[in-house]
Amino acid sequence: MEPDSRIGRMSDWSTLRATHRRPLRVALLPCAGRGERAGGGRPKQYVEVSGRSVVHWTLLAFDELVGQGQLDGVAVVLSPGDEEFVQAVPPALRERLQVMPVGGATRAHSVWGGLQALAREGLGETDWVLVHDAARCLIEPAELLRLIVACEGDAVGGLLACPVPDTLKRADALGRVQDTVPRDHLWAAQTPQMFRLGLLRDVLGRALQAGIPVTDEAGAVEWAGQAPKLVAGPADNFKLTYPDDFRRAAEVLARRSTSIGTTP
Ligand code: CTP
Ligand code: MG
Repeated sequence: MEPDSRIGRMSDWSTLRATHRRPLRVALLPCAGRGERAGGGRPKQYVEVSGRSVVHWTLLAFDELVGQGQLDGVAVVLSPGDEEFVQAVPPALRERLQVMPVGGATRAHSVWGGLQALAREGLGETDWVLVHDAARCLIEPAELLRLIVACEGDAVGGLLACPVPDTLKRADALGRVQDTVPRDHLWAAQTPQMFRLGLLRDVLGRALQAGIPVTDEAGAVEWAGQAPKLVAGPADNFKLTYPDDFRRAAEVLARRSTSIGTTP
């Protein structure tokens, strides 16, 4: 018999859909990376920032939206054999998640594994999936809701992104400026990226099979010839990538907790 390695509750999406008049909205968090650029002895999503693990902070934002009835579930993709997630996220929160040990060699493979699992468990072709990096722990519920509102009536779907504020330089092999890239119309892609399960499975599966390097979901959708919608996101929804990002994230979280404390 196959061991049931799910840590959280199993969702029955088709039963849930019967109780909803709209397509379901499910968050899918790839959490199976190794965090090599961040250095440190462990995957960055399990590093503690301001008293909680990175992935715990991320999950709190999504859980709040579940509590508000705006999101119907949260699924987390882990590396097979991951033993750190259970230490990093408290049991009460884990109970409200679906955990899928189907992580792969790249982020795209992990997302692909998660989409396959969601489809197997009855999530429908027209239901929405919000893919979000576990390592992007500064996302706030209001931003998630803004993305949902902006995309749910859209034929393709979309993503949070930020207009690029800096002048951009292309480097040569010696690390010197080759030229300046006009930044007009350039946006830095963030997550969540919100697409219908059917579309995303189709394009991601085909892109992976074709050997296309896919770094985000929108990239696969574009590759298949469709134009995802850009939804302006907050500048502080950055992905913790390098060692210094943990300090920056702690500063943002400290600022937020102070402003919550002083709100009349
Ligand atoms: N991710 C994943 N499976 C992988 C690689 C990445 O689920 N094989 C997840 C990471 O856990 C992270 C998100 O995708 O939440 C964004 O990826 P990235 O920032 O590249 O994280 P890592 O791959 O862990 O970091 P690095 O590239 O520095 O090793
Ligand atoms: Mg990576």
